[in-house]
Amino acid sequence: MTRPEFSARVARLPRYPAAPGYAWEGDIARLASNESPDPPLPEVVEAAARALTGLNRYPDPTNGALRERLSDRYGVPVDRIAIGNGSCDILLAAGEALLEPGAELVYAWPSFSIYPHLTAASGATEVVVPLRDERHDLDAMAAEITAATRLVVVCNPNNPTSTAVALADIEAFVARVPRHAVVILDEAYCEFNLLDDPDASLDLLPRHPNLVLLRTFSKVYGLAGLRVGFGLCGSPEVREALDQVRQPFFCNAAAQAAAIEALEHQDAVAARVERAIAARLQLDAGLRGLGIEPAESHANFAWFDVGEGEAEIVGALAQRGVLVRSGSALGRPGHLRVTYGTPAENTRFLEELATLV
Ligand SMILES: Cc1ncc(COP(=O)(O)O)c(C=O)c1O
Repeated sequence: MTRPEFSARVARLPRYPAAPGYAWEGDIARLASNESPDPPLPEVVEAAARALTGLNRYPDPTNGALRERLSDRYGVPVDRIAIGNGSCDILLAAGEALLEPGAELVYAWPSFSIYPHLTAASGATEVVVPLRDERHDLDAMAAEITAATRLVVVCNPNNPTSTAVALADIEAFVARVPRHAVVILDEAYCEFNLLDDPDASLDLLPRHPNLVLLRTFSKVYGLAGLRVGFGLCGSPEVREALDQVRQPFFCNAAAQAAAIEALEHQDAVAARVERAIAARLQLDAGLRGLGIEPAESHANFAWFDVGEGEAEIVGALAQRGVLVRSGSALGRPGHLRVTYGTPAENTRFLEELATLV
């Protein structure tokens, strides 16, 4: 042997298509990763800094204080709240807790790029249902659910297409899923969704013990760099299984402290949502001015068709310091995904794009 012999799992696992340019310095418009353009609030930075003075200790493995605050905020019992090192951690844990060879995972495509990892990691079978008009086709997904289905993931609003389906349709869908299968409703972008109140989905939890609402502090709360997400579970058993498959200290002390403080500033969340909606209007109008029709976005990013020139456009924008995401990396060649930035960044993007299309 000239090199280590890796497991079959490694051969199966796709490589996560990370956006380029994280290490680039200078005046870069970072519109590739659906982050918040706003820096964290000073109070949140202070809370994280206070936690740093106790770094000789392990973080609270129960995430007790954070779960208490989330329970107060969402009215979900503490024992049904799962915390994660980002919400990706909870998705991967769900894969470990629910999937194995012979089991099935149902998800739509294109959707969030981590979902294919769940079957690759576990050896379970994936049942991939194409989007219809860039939206989840919930009827087609329901038709794919079998006795072998253990997990169904619905991303609403959907990454990368930015579209949302109405909560009434999701409610009808969840009602059709038998209770042996867990449904994760990935709501990473729910605060930006204008179709329904972001908290309306909470009403489904008491009726569906197999449902998990997956949320994150990485988007509207602006804490992507700290890695903290949470799952609001319909039953304590699901939360217990999600914890059981993970190492004990999966959420670091600074992340816990920052998330607790961030929850106190719902006014800032509302202001960020307002700025994102303004950016949506700015980008939609600018793109239409260039003859491009974006998808109806309910997220903090735009999704649109640029045809065969995709790779050249992404490359040329990057050379000019504007980082956007190529649809080829996300399952839909010919498209671009562009995160809403500050008004100045959005203008810069539109001006550069105008010279390329
Ligand atoms: C739909 C969706 N879910 C989950 C995540 C993961 O977020 P995090 O692990 O930062 O909480 C993302 C990140 O881009 C996402 O787009």
